[in-house]
Amino acid sequence: MEIVFASRHDSDPLQWVQALQAALPEHNVSLWDGEAPSGQAQVAVVWAPPAELFAREPQLTHVFNLGAGVDALLRLPDLPADITLVRMEDGGMAVQMAEYVLHYLIRESRDLGRYASLQSQACWQPQADIDRAAWPVGVMGGGVMGRRVAQACAALDYPVSVWSRSGQPVAGAQAFGQEQLSDFLANTRVLVNVLPLTAATQGILSCTLFQHLQADAYLINIARGGHLVDADLLEALENGRLRGAALDAFVQEPLPKEHPFWAHPRIQVTPHVAGASLMAMTVNQIAGKVHAMTRGEPISGVVNRARGY
Ligand code: GLV
Repeated sequence: MEIVFASRHDSDPLQWVQALQAALPEHNVSLWDGEAPSGQAQVAVVWAPPAELFAREPQLTHVFNLGAGVDALLRLPDLPADITLVRMEDGGMAVQMAEYVLHYLIRESRDLGRYASLQSQACWQPQADIDRAAWPVGVMGGGVMGRRVAQACAALDYPVSVWSRSGQPVAGAQAFGQEQLSDFLANTRVLVNVLPLTAATQGILSCTLFQHLQADAYLINIARGGHLVDADLLEALENGRLRGAALDAFVQEPLPKEHPFWAHPRIQVTPHVAGASLMAMTVNQIAGKVHAMTRGEPISGVVNRARGY
């Protein structure tokens, strides 16, 4: 079988090709060449692929996305309706996201950021003891990532809620279903977004939503920039509705140099690194699914296009 790798954002795509080839020796893996496409590929492994990939590879039956979010793929106008899209289900991302969230949660709840400025004044000044009950965490999204984040926060004894479409239970957390968003928000001081970006969740992090959070709330967005209304965040920081935010994803990436988030004293910007797809785990997962697919077995992580993830 012909398998092509196509990514517009990877600095070393040949490394991926080699790793995939090593994991799938019975198939022929190559870097997709837009100048001279073979037209024979049945499987593509992609991250932000060139738009013409689908028109020039008419034999494609399966596309494996290197990330969990398939929003960019679903926006491509020429994506054929009959191709099976498969998203990454973890690939080492969930544990990194949990770390990222814990970092900012602890930094806020223990006021650790303050010690840097106190140190610069050689000032020995302990901050108040932590009261975990005053730092309830609310995780939006109950998939693999959301559950791992919720469990990590619960393991450190923070009260945790999870809001998901299904409202299914998550160990150690209180679960809220789709219709219970305002109850979930009323239970939340540190809001963590790991939702997929779909028509239903675009712009969900808005001033209307911020108003339902507990006082002095903090936002951690590790999903997509499109979830957040940038101007509403700036306003919520200005009027004191929010105390701060850690943002890892942006509508335009790299975040333009003139964007106000960069210089804002209460916004922490990171360059879409909260949960990277680690090569070895990603390749393993994709190879396992390609094997299952060639044996005619069902594979997990198939995108439901109507749902958007
Ligand atoms: C990263 O942003 C992903 O979708 O996995």
